[in-house]
Amino acid sequence: MVNPICSLLPGDFPWRNRIHLFDCLPSTNDYAKELARQGAPHGTVIIADAQTAGRGRMGRSFHSAKNQGLYLSLILRPQCPPAQLMHLTCAAAESACNAVQQLCGIRPQVKWINDLIMEQKKLGGILTELSVDSKTGLTDWAVIGIGINCGQKRTDFPPELQDMATSLLLSTGNAYSPYNLACALICELHRLSCNLLSGKEKMLRQYEQDCLTIGKDISVSKNGDIFYGKALGIDGDGGLIVLLTDGTTQTVQAGEVSVRGLYGYV
Ligand code: BTN
Repeated sequence: MVNPICSLLPGDFPWRNRIHLFDCLPSTNDYAKELARQGAPHGTVIIADAQTAGRGRMGRSFHSAKNQGLYLSLILRPQCPPAQLMHLTCAAAESACNAVQQLCGIRPQVKWINDLIMEQKKLGGILTELSVDSKTGLTDWAVIGIGINCGQKRTDFPPELQDMATSLLLSTGNAYSPYNLACALICELHRLSCNLLSGKEKMLRQYEQDCLTIGKDISVSKNGDIFYGKALGIDGDGGLIVLLTDGTTQTVQAGEVSVRGLYGYV
């Protein structure tokens, strides 16, 4: 059977024969990582109509009901040290923002570092995972996982998510097919992969524009400690520059950032 996503892509699209579509997987990221370990090429894309164990950052789960969202993972094989890929999650978030904007005419915002936001609610998220070749010290593979809520109504989300989550349907009033979104996103991710290092600075300045965290009072939770401050900007690797309450400036590369006024944080 013809893969319905391939039939939406241009005939000469370079990753056309590397797009794998499944009814249901535990997690497209886990499947992509397994394929990457087995040698799957750069540009391999895994999409599932549903996930039973969709994963998010910080060990969280990602609600992935059948045909209601886009659940996609991409294998990249950038031949560079992992230290040059600190911006990968930001870059993937920008690709997702571009794809949603193309399809719906509305651009999501980003909550640092990986949450896609519409109307102050979570529309989706990014989970990037990476493996390094211990002999060369270079990146062996990177898997970019992207989940975007498309068709959920409020009551389709579990009760604990209903005040925090949104979908393209809820935020725009229109129904969008996850496969059309997949098509726009795959093209954006291909464009990103061609400019992954050369386009970094320009991409990060756009990320800074899209990042609702900037200028807000935030808390940063890291290794059991909590710091408070104001988010000032994004550095050259995608790190969050924070002015702490003691007057010092720190750049946060990892950890959980809460934004005052978002998701019930007061
Ligand atoms: C987050 O919210 O912290 C990130 C969510 C990432 C979800 C996507 S859905 C496709 C891919 N497969 C997964 O298990 N996770 C990512």
